[in-house]
Amino acid sequence: MTLSSTRVLLIIGGGIAAYKSLDLIRRLKERGARVRVVMTRAAQEFVTPLSAGALAGERAHTDLFDSKTEFDIGHIRLAREADIVVVAPATADLMAKMAGGHADDLATTALLATTAPVLIAPAMNAKMWSHVATQRNAAQLHADGIAMVGPNAGEMAEAGEAGVGRMAEPLEIVAAVEALLEPRTGQPKPLSGKRLLVTSGPTHEPIDPVRYIANRSSGKQGHAIAKAAAELGAAVTLISGPVTIADPPGVRVVKVQSAKDMLAAVEAALPVDAAVFAAAVADWRVAEPGRQKMKKGFGGTPQLAFVENPDILATTAKRESKRPRLVVGFAAETENVIDNARDKLARKGCDWIVANDVSAATGIMGGDANTVHVVTAEGVDSWPSQSKEEVAHALVRRIADALKDTP
Ligand code: CTP
Repeated sequence: MTLSSTRVLLIIGGGIAAYKSLDLIRRLKERGARVRVVMTRAAQEFVTPLSAGALAGERAHTDLFDSKTEFDIGHIRLAREADIVVVAPATADLMAKMAGGHADDLATTALLATTAPVLIAPAMNAKMWSHVATQRNAAQLHADGIAMVGPNAGEMAEAGEAGVGRMAEPLEIVAAVEALLEPRTGQPKPLSGKRLLVTSGPTHEPIDPVRYIANRSSGKQGHAIAKAAAELGAAVTLISGPVTIADPPGVRVVKVQSAKDMLAAVEAALPVDAAVFAAAVADWRVAEPGRQKMKKGFGGTPQLAFVENPDILATTAKRESKRPRLVVGFAAETENVIDNARDKLARKGCDWIVANDVSAATGIMGGDANTVHVVTAEGVDSWPSQSKEEVAHALVRRIADALKDTP
């Protein structure tokens, strides 16, 4: 009962993802939370107040000018009697209203009246999400101290559409609620107020709709770094290629497939204070992936032509605007580890290279241990062989030290 007696005010916006919010109510209640639901007018086009109310165990609130609601509870009490406010799905329109401080219905009025932490789970069409206006609103909400979970990449409700815009899954939202409500220790954490971006996992480069080229990266190291940074108080965006390990708690996870998607997601996540590039990005992609599944027996064996993928680390490190103050790359090497890492540091323009010794004698890709050397302009710091979690904690501590005296 991790949310025992926590009062959650759940605001359901008007999007197709609203059906997932019904499951979210169940998941929150399973953990002992008391859930009060407010639905916008548009939300009621997707799910009914009756179903939301039945799951919550109390009437769902819909109307600012409903005399019964105002008399019973009222928007001020709804706002005040909440330990956390969750907006799921947060539509583009609702985000715009929040960013602008509008208060023209029960949902926006309660949002303006609350002093509780607010978590939003955006959900919209990928083009709407990447639109400059939505990104501006997201940045404003972030600056206003509003936490965000998702959106994830993947298939959209509209047939054939894919991209970043899917609402985070109910359990991801629950994990984000738990992380936000974690009891404060009273001591500021070393990365409080800092924003970090981490890439992790492999990328999948399509050959045709059913086949792809990939590598053996597990994502363990990148995910461990994201988790460790969140534990030290950072607001973390983890941009992950396809992996089978769980999302780390308290981290905004953006799921992508290809190197091109990963670059777009990285750019959308800027500005940040530090960026750690732990993903094993495919160096090449197929120049022209088949639109249809390639069939045997037509013209012999396929001859695949490749083009080079963008180098996400180098592109970010060499940015003129919004360059993170600290850019950290990884290098998997089997020989001349330090020399190769020094060379990579200069070539890619980053501040540190965490050189990862993957020779058979030390760490194997996909394994649990890692032997690393942190190579910077000042010198080399060689760490003993340790677990990926230990490497993550040591690295994140070092990042916290490097960012300590910056605003
Ligand atoms: N990286 C990236 N985008 C790419 C390729 C690599 O962001 N398209 C990042 C990785 O996340 C890692 C670092 O660059 O942080 C090192 O990648 P690596 O593949 O080892 O470097 P290369 O430049 O490809 O060098 P080499 O193939 O000679 O090892």
